[in-house]
Amino acid sequence: MIAVGSDHAGYELKLELIGHLKERGFEVKDYGTDSTDSCDYPDFAKKVGHAVADAEAEKGLLVCGTGIGMSICANKIKGVRASVLSDEFSAEATRSHNDANVLCLGARVVDTAKAVKLLDIFLDTPFSEGENHCRRISKLED
Ligand code: RB5
Repeated sequence: MIAVGSDHAGYELKLELIGHLKERGFEVKDYGTDSTDSCDYPDFAKKVGHAVADAEAEKGLLVCGTGIGMSICANKIKGVRASVLSDEFSAEATRSHNDANVLCLGARVVDTAKAVKLLDIFLDTPFSEGENHCRRISKLED
């Protein structure tokens, strides 16, 4: 299952990305928000972050205006490795090097086509599991 959340700024892009995830056959759980009415991004980052940290979800997707507020909040939860992405190289690297488990996107930063591309790379790139990367991630968890 992919846990998904947004604030008002990310709501419309989130709906597009949920459609894409479902087309690809993923089970999706949407933790809100449910409209473009103003709301607070930490409320949704917290729910999605806990779903990932508690292994209810295999990965998380969070969308706000920039992706930054979502990532700051999600990264406070132990076990979450959230990355804000706007380029393909970083999308691949954060999976293969950092084993990132939450993707944060900015609806005011990337268009829908770029967001879909970043999401696909994020989902399709495995963690490299190299010794160096594993050691560094275990230091992050400490
Ligand atoms: C909302 O205006 C905006 O601050 C929020 O979506 C996000 O970009 C915060 O990081």
